[in-house]
Amino acid sequence: MFFPGLVGVIAARTRLSEVDGKAGRLIISGYPVEEFAGVATFEEVAYLLWKGALPTAQQLADFRGAIAAERALATVTLDVLKAAAGKDIPPMTALRMAAGTLDLQTVKGTTPDGIPLENIAVIARFPTIVGTYWRLLNDEPVVEPRADLGFTANLLYMITGQEPSEERTRGLETYLNCVVDHGLNASTFTARVITSTGSDLISALTGAIGALKGPLHGGAPGPALDMVFEIGDAANAEAYLRAKLDRKERLMGFGHRIYRVRDPRVEVLSAAAKRLYERDGDMRLYNLVADVEKVAVRLLAEYYPQRSLQTNVEFYTALLLHGLAMPMELFTPCFAISRAVGWIAHCQEQRKDSRIIRPESEYEGPRDMRWVPIEAR
Ligand SMILES: CC(C)(COP(=O)(O)OP(=O)(O)OC[C@H]1O[C@@H](n2cnc3c(N)ncnc32)[C@H](O)[C@@H]1OP(=O)(O)O)[C@@H](O)C(=O)NCCC(=O)NCCS
Repeated sequence: MFFPGLVGVIAARTRLSEVDGKAGRLIISGYPVEEFAGVATFEEVAYLLWKGALPTAQQLADFRGAIAAERALATVTLDVLKAAAGKDIPPMTALRMAAGTLDLQTVKGTTPDGIPLENIAVIARFPTIVGTYWRLLNDEPVVEPRADLGFTANLLYMITGQEPSEERTRGLETYLNCVVDHGLNASTFTARVITSTGSDLISALTGAIGALKGPLHGGAPGPALDMVFEIGDAANAEAYLRAKLDRKERLMGFGHRIYRVRDPRVEVLSAAAKRLYERDGDMRLYNLVADVEKVAVRLLAEYYPQRSLQTNVEFYTALLLHGLAMPMELFTPCFAISRAVGWIAHCQEQRKDSRIIRPESEYEGPRDMRWVPIEAR
C-alpha cells in the first residue's frame, strides 16, 4: 500500500508527546502544553522531556549549571561561522553547517541524574552558534555566553548584547516551551531515520535542521509575517488572500497535517503576544494579525471545504517573536534551538529500537530495457 506523505502511518511509539489533531490537544511528557508553557523555564521543560519527570530545585540547579558550563564553541565552529558570515549565508544554513562541526568526543559521561553530557553540550551550544552568528553577520562584536543567565535570557543576551527584561525572557521562554516537541513531525522523523541506521547524534541533528528549514515545516513564520506586512490593513486582507488562493499558493501559518482544529499552541502564543503588545502600548499589529487570521480561516474553508484548515503555531509565533524584537532571520533558528531538545529525546528513544527505518517504494518506471552502447545513442 502506498501512503503519499506517509499520511496515517504510525512509525514510532513514544512517551515524549501526543498530538491529538481532533481534540486540538498537545501533551508533552504527560502535561498539556497550556499547563506549563507560560510558567516553566526552558530548562525545566528540557529536563521533563529527557527524564520523564519534573526536576526538584536541586536537580534543576545542577542541570542549569551543566548547560551553562557547556556553552563555549570550539575554534573550528567559530571558523565555520566566520567563513559563513563572510559570504552572507542565511542563519539557518549557518546553523546547519556549524552543528556539523560540534565535536562531542570531549564530553563523554553523564550528569549525576544520568543525562548524557553530549546531549547537554548540544542544547548549550546551539544558542551560542545562533547568537555568535547573528553578531558576526551584522559586523558586531561577538558576545560571550554568560553562565549566570538562564537558557533563554542568555540566548537573548548573546543576540542583542543586552541583558533582557523579565518580560522579554518570559515571552521567548513561552515560545521555546511550546515548540519543544511535537510527535513525529518531519524533522523529528528525519532525526529518527538517521539514528535508526546506527549513526551519531550530530548527524541526526544536522539532518533534522535541514528538514526544519523548509517553508512547509519550520520556515513558515517569516513568510507569514511578511504576508501580514504586505496586507498592511485589515481592509485589504480579503482581496490579497483570495488572489493568493486563486493562484493556488499556500497561506503560511495555516493548515496542519494532524490538527483539524486550531493548534493548541496558538492560544498560548497569542495570549503571550497580546500581553507583550499591550505592555508596549501599541496593539495595531496584534489586531491586524487577528483580523487577517479570521479572514484566512474563512477563505480556507471556502476554497477547501473538505479539509479543515486552521491557524497553526507559526502564525502567532511570527507575531510573538516580532514583538520580542527578534530578527525575522532568527525565527527558524530559535525553533531549532528548542526542538533540538525534542530531537535528542527522540534519538534516545530510537536508539533503544534496533530496527532500521526502511520503508518501501513502488517502482513505476519501465522494465526490460536493452543497454545501448554510447556510440549508438
Ligand atoms: C502544514 C502543511 C504542509 C500540511 O500539509 P498536508 O498535511 O500535506 O496538507 P495538504 O497539503 O494535503 O493539504 C490539502 C489541501 O489543502 C491545501 N492547503 C493546505 N494548507 C494550505 C494553506 N496553508 N494554504 C492554502 N492551501 C492549503 C493544499 O494545497 C491541498 O490542496 P490540494 O489538494 O488542492 O493540493 C500545509 O498545510 C501547508 O503547507 N501549510 C502552510 C505552511 C505552514 O504554515 N507550515 C507550518 C506547519 S506547522
